[in-house]
Amino acid sequence: MIFLDNFVIPSGTEHAALLNILQVLTLLIFLPFTGMVLGGSILSVYFNGKGIKESKPLYTRFAKDIMDRILVKRSAGLAFGVLPVATLTIIYAQFLMNAKIITVNFLAFSTLYYFAAIIFLLRYKNSFLKVIPHSKFLVTLRLARKEEGEEENEESIIPSLSGYAYFGLVALLVGLFLFVCGATIVAEPSRWNTSGILKSVFSLPVWMNYIYLILASCAIAGSAILYFFFVWQGGIKDMSEDYSRLVKKTVVPFTLVSSVLLPVFLFGGIILMPASSMSSSVYLYVVFAFISILLASNLLYGILKNSEMQFAGAVFFIMFLIFTFTIVKDQLVLGNSVREHLYAINQKAEEYDRQKEALVMTSTGVSAEQIYNQKCIACHKFDVKLVGPPYKETVPKYNGDVKKLSEFIFNPVKINPDYPSMPNQGLKKKEAEAMAQWLMEKVNH
Ligand code: HEC
Repeated sequence: MIFLDNFVIPSGTEHAALLNILQVLTLLIFLPFTGMVLGGSILSVYFNGKGIKESKPLYTRFAKDIMDRILVKRSAGLAFGVLPVATLTIIYAQFLMNAKIITVNFLAFSTLYYFAAIIFLLRYKNSFLKVIPHSKFLVTLRLARKEEGEEENEESIIPSLSGYAYFGLVALLVGLFLFVCGATIVAEPSRWNTSGILKSVFSLPVWMNYIYLILASCAIAGSAILYFFFVWQGGIKDMSEDYSRLVKKTVVPFTLVSSVLLPVFLFGGIILMPASSMSSSVYLYVVFAFISILLASNLLYGILKNSEMQFAGAVFFIMFLIFTFTIVKDQLVLGNSVREHLYAINQKAEEYDRQKEALVMTSTGVSAEQIYNQKCIACHKFDVKLVGPPYKETVPKYNGDVKKLSEFIFNPVKINPDYPSMPNQGLKKKEAEAMAQWLMEKVNH
C-alpha cells in the first residue's frame, strides 16, 4: 500500500518495541473473538439448516441461542472484529515500511471482508423470527404470550431463511484467509518480492496456518458455547433435558475433535518455516501451546465421558491460553524474520531525525544566533555603533528583502563612506540566508 507508506514514520528501536506490544494486544482481542464468531456461526448455520430440513424447533432455537451468545451487539462486533484488523494493518504498514511486500494489501482487504462479514452475520442473527411472511402473526403471538409472563419456548422461534448467513460465513473465511496470507508471507523475507495472491493460495505454510486457525476457532467457539450455556451465570435457565442433551452431544465432540487435530497443524506450520525465522523461544511457545491443547482435550474428554460441565470454564480459559501462546509464537517468528528489515528502518529513522534537527536549526535561527555570537558580535550590536553600524539602522533599509540582505552578508560590498569596509566573514550561502532571516526578525521585534 503505497499510500500507507506515505504517512507512516520510520520507527526507531523503542518505537518498534512499543508497536510489538500493541500488535500482540490487538491480536489477543481480535483472534479469539473472530474465532468464536467463525466457529459459532458454522455451528449455528448448520443447525439452522437442520432445523428447516427436519422441522425441529429445538435445532432452530439452538442456532439462535448460539448467535445471541457470540455476537451480542453490532458495536461489539465492530470493536472486536473490524477495528483490530484495521489497527493491525497500520501497524504492519509501519513495520514493513518500504518493503516490497504485499502483506499490507492483504490486511487492508481482509479488513473490508471482516466488516462485511460482521454486518451480514448480524443480519442473520436478527433474522430469526422475521423472515417468513406469516411470522408477523407469530411474533405478535409470542410477544403477547411474553407479556403474560410465560417463558419463551422452542416452538415460537422460526428458522432463519436469511441468505446473509452464508454471505457472512464466506466473507469471514475469505477475510481470515487474506489475514493469514499476509501474516504468513511476512515470515519468509526471501520471498517478499515474489509473493502475490496466487502464490499464497498455493503455499503450504499459509494453508497450515489457516487450517490451524479455523480449528482453533471451532475449539474456542465450542468451549464458549459450553461455558455460556451451562456455567456462566448458572447457564441458560429454561433448558429442557432434550436441549441440554443435544448441546452436549454435538458441541463436546465438535470441540474435542477440533482441539485434537490442532497439534498436527501447529507442528506442520513450524516444520515449514524457514530456519532463519526460528529461535529457541519460538519452540518454547510451541511446547506451551501443545501442553495447553493436551490439557484442554483431556478436560473435554472428561466432559464427554462423565458430563462434568464444571470443566467448561477451565476449557474456555485454556483455549484463550492456546491463542495467547500461538500469537506470541507468531510474533517471535515475525520478529526473527523482519529483524534485518527493521534494522534498515531504524537507520532510516535516525536519518529522518537528523534531517528534522537540521530543519529546526535553520527555521528557528538557533544556528543564526550562534553565528552572530561567534562572528558578528565583535563589530555589531543592534542599537550601538561599534566598528560596524548598528543593525537597527541598517537592516530596515532592506525592507524585508531577505535575499538582498543575505547577498550582502555572503559577500559584503562598500556601502557607507563613514565606515570602513566590512571584511567577508566566509559564511556559506545557507548560513548567510539564515543570518539575514534572523536579523530581520530580531530588528522587527
Ligand atoms: C570586522 C568587523 C565586522 C565584522 C566581524 C562584521 N561586520 Fe558587518 N559591517 C562592518 C562594517 C565596517 C560595516 C559597514 C560597511 C559599509 O557600510 O560599507 C558593516 C555592515 C554590515 C551591515 C549593513 C550593510 C548595509 O547595507 O548597510 C550588515 C547587515 C552587516 N554588516 C552584517 C554583518 C554580519 C551578519 C556579520 C557576521 C556574520 C558581520 N556583519 C560581521 C564590520 C563588520
